[in-house]
Amino acid sequence: MRLGASIRVLPLLTPLVVLGPLACNRAEAEGPPPSPDAVAGAEAEAVFNQRCVACHGTAGKGNGTVASALGVTPRDYTNREWQARVSDEDLRVVILRGGKSTGKSDYMPPNPDLESKPRVVAALVAKVRGFGK
Ligand code: HEC
Repeated sequence: MRLGASIRVLPLLTPLVVLGPLACNRAEAEGPPPSPDAVAGAEAEAVFNQRCVACHGTAGKGNGTVASALGVTPRDYTNREWQARVSDEDLRVVILRGGKSTGKSDYMPPNPDLESKPRVVAALVAKVRGFGK
């Protein structure tokens, strides 16, 4: 009786035995997991699109869809003079604590949830820098 049961189960197990190693090979083919910087870069990209583009625009020119309604025009990030004047630390502080913290417009909102994600903030700063290149 017992033997009969295991024989009946056998065909069900066979695909697992055959396909199991194939599944492992597939994972290997996809390469090693992405680096922490790559993960942070992807998150920064998502954050920028979700939280910043409405005001700063997809090309960082300060002409997002709601920018004209603000009364204060966000900076044109492609302006190289401004890029040369401002430090990475200035950008970091404004992004985390908002415009008001540095005497700029209150419309620039703080992003306190990013305090615990320095790599994402660094990637956002790099993104802002990238518009000026
Ligand atoms: C509601 C509109 C709005 C949103 C959303 C917004 N900003 Fe801003 N931001 C502004 C405005 C307006 C200023 C200009 C403030 C000033 O010059 O007084 C500004 C200024 C800045 C500055 C400083 C520029 C300078 O002159 O030194 C940085 C950096 C910046 N924003 C980055 C971001 C990032 C990154 C995000 C998304 C996480 C974001 N902003 C979201 C409106 C916005």
